[in-house]
Amino acid sequence: MSNTISGPLTTESLAGAAYIVAALLFILSLAGLSKHETARRGVAYGIAGMAIALASTVWGTLQSDFISGLAGIGTLLLLVAVIIGAAIGLWRARAVQMTGMPELIAILHSFVGLAAVLVGWNGHFEAKDVAPSLLGVHRSEVFIGVFIGAVTFTGSIVAFLKLSARIKSKPLMLPGKNLLNLGALLAFAALTVWYVAEPQLSLLVAVTAIALALGWHLVASIGGGDMPVVVSMLNSYSGWAAAAAGFLLNNDLLIVTGALVGSSGAYLSYIMCKAMNRSFVSVIAGGFGLEAPASSDTDYGEHREITAEETADLLKNASSVVITPGYGMAVAQAQHHVAELTRKLREKQVDVRFGIHPVAGRLPGHMNVLLAEAKVPYDIVLEMDEINDELAQTEVVLVIGANDTVNPAAAEDPGSPIAGMPVLRVWEAGNVVVFKRSMASGYAGVQNPLFFRDNSQMLFGDAKDRIDDILQRI
Ligand code: TAP
Repeated sequence: MSNTISGPLTTESLAGAAYIVAALLFILSLAGLSKHETARRGVAYGIAGMAIALASTVWGTLQSDFISGLAGIGTLLLLVAVIIGAAIGLWRARAVQMTGMPELIAILHSFVGLAAVLVGWNGHFEAKDVAPSLLGVHRSEVFIGVFIGAVTFTGSIVAFLKLSARIKSKPLMLPGKNLLNLGALLAFAALTVWYVAEPQLSLLVAVTAIALALGWHLVASIGGGDMPVVVSMLNSYSGWAAAAAGFLLNNDLLIVTGALVGSSGAYLSYIMCKAMNRSFVSVIAGGFGLEAPASSDTDYGEHREITAEETADLLKNASSVVITPGYGMAVAQAQHHVAELTRKLREKQVDVRFGIHPVAGRLPGHMNVLLAEAKVPYDIVLEMDEINDELAQTEVVLVIGANDTVNPAAAEDPGSPIAGMPVLRVWEAGNVVVFKRSMASGYAGVQNPLFFRDNSQMLFGDAKDRIDDILQRI
């Protein structure tokens, strides 16, 4: 992009203007995405910004090709890469189920990390073009870019494997894990100083290996209920990795976009940590200060079962019902049936409301999106903090495919791996009916004492089928 053509409007100034417009569109996009009503507009701004950024990059590459006598070879390579990438992206985006979205996002973050590593390595080999006075800065940019990129790369792969249940979500508890993380950071700092003084390839190999191992370890050490924060944290890391690549490529748009993603991801992680009553520092430092949870083999007694017909009778005779949906509702795709049940009960003058936990499902706002899709009125969909104090006065709570988010152990058992996480206190209601297929634990792998309480009954089977049965009876 540093090559220019003569005339009042140079390639560089055109690209600069296009990049400013694209950056503004990205900011408008983020603002739009923050509310239901403006989310579509936000997506449109984002697409427009990305189209402008791509067009101006292709145009800039074409100009520099002709100036350097490459006759369009660089542009051709760029277009081939864009077409292959776009085809894979379209295919995956069309095929992905809503429940598979978090792992898709995690794997996409890993690509950003890998790209930053490759740009950093390229920066090592291309250092001969850098002005001598800027060599020190260039070398630290190479190291920082490779480090953040490699941490993001392996961290995102572990997140992908955990979210898609290819590996256990249990935290890895290596002895001295905090010292290992700290040692990796100190080694990075020492190697950077060394590399700036003497840019040897072996140092770059060493820092890449350390960062790959650190990324793996950081995310492997976090488990269970804290995974949502990890995804938004990796989102933030991928932003900083892109910004680091932007510095190396001298590309302003990449720096701005990377900083936007990096800071918004960090802020989202912070908000989620607050909602989950988790320490932000502990989560970004790979579970710093967390002890291995004591394995619990408590005998909670026997559970009781209820049939769909009995549940229908219970609901018909109730005056207040609260529905707390979770990941299982998404798996069963039961949202339309839940909406139909809600409509029928409201016709019978039953007061029906929803209680939504901030990390129910597998992505922020997952339940809200599904209920909005099924046209459940917004005004009866309440956040956890809004409904929690009213659960004690509620006659019937339907727990539809939720587990960790309604687990009393979080509030009552300090030794539980999810201790301290705020949960929906459904056990305070008169009757609790839990819809699930078995007695299996939820995402965090923790047994749920709710299922064994005197006021709880299990309604086994696929949530959609069971709600269908209830609808027939009502
Ligand atoms: P989970 O604890 O994941 O439990 C879901 C339950 O749904 C399971 O116990 C499962 O039991 C049941 N289920 C699955 N398919 C079903 C079906 N077809 N019909 C009926 N039940 C079905 O759910 P949750 O309460 O929503 O908690 C979310 C968990 O995911 C939290 O630990 C959270 O930290 C984590 N997480 C959240 C996010 C975000 S941002 N929301 C991201 C990553 C991780 P059966 O197998 O017995 O049916």
